[in-house]
Amino acid sequence: MPTCLVTGASRGIGLEFVKQYAAEGWTVVATCRQPEQAQALAQLQGDIRVERLDVSDFARIEALGRKLDRLPIDLVLNNAAIFGPRITPYDSVDYAAWAEVMRVNVMAPLKVSAVFAANLARSNLRTAVAITSLMGSVGDNTSGGSYVYRSSKAALHAVMRSLSVDLRSKQIIVCVINPGWVRTDMGGSAAPLDAFESVAGMRDVIGRLTMRDSGSFYNYDGEELPW
Ligand SMILES: NC(=O)c1ccc[n+]([C@@H]2O[C@H](COP(=O)([O-])OP(=O)(O)OC[C@H]3O[C@@H](n4cnc5c(N)ncnc54)[C@H](OP(=O)(O)O)[C@@H]3O)[C@@H](O)[C@H]2O)c1
Repeated sequence: MPTCLVTGASRGIGLEFVKQYAAEGWTVVATCRQPEQAQALAQLQGDIRVERLDVSDFARIEALGRKLDRLPIDLVLNNAAIFGPRITPYDSVDYAAWAEVMRVNVMAPLKVSAVFAANLARSNLRTAVAITSLMGSVGDNTSGGSYVYRSSKAALHAVMRSLSVDLRSKQIIVCVINPGWVRTDMGGSAAPLDAFESVAGMRDVIGRLTMRDSGSFYNYDGEELPW
């Protein structure tokens, strides 16, 4: 069975990915900041290996890369992210908070993908996915605001698109997928989708990816989205 590595596996969408892939019989490397506090993760059944990882700590990403050296990883799921300040008027943005959001949402997915590219290249499925947001779509932005989160996901798109080009020679598929608006701590209770439905849809999309899809931006239901 395939192996996947998930960042931000303690709760929300990341936790649901671990649950569903493990239930299918995959081996899952579930990474999270504080494993000792991740009770829901600890209770999941299956071939799940929990590893401590704060994705903003690049030395720890490298250390995990050394620890998992030579392990084929079929799917790297860059899921961990933060929203940052909820209210960001254009004339009073918290620039320090913005820098932290860029580190977690943009730089870390590239670092994780780069560190585990060799593991991906050893695998069968060879797929790196970043969970993005429609809020990162420049083409879809008619409501304005949300400077911090929007710009982080738009930058993530640029990063993953470049990576799709650079990893093409290794036959590694690189995509970004929008989970929809999902009832999690980030999405809030008014969201129309539950994590099960969102993740089931994204797993379906991931399962159908080929090299021809590398560099694409998909919705959880398989629709291609505007950059
Ligand atoms: N929910 C939505 O409606 C929605 C919509 C569009 C896109 N998304 C995207 O979907 C993904 C998952 O979101 P979610 O709704 O599941 O969010 P969530 O409920 O807030 O969970 C976020 C996860 O990211 C982890 N995380 C945050 N900073 C981290 C760091 N520095 N290192 C490692 N892990 C870190 C959190 O870990 P801790 O438990 O340690 O804090 C948690 O596991 C994100 O990329 C988000 O941008 C969500």
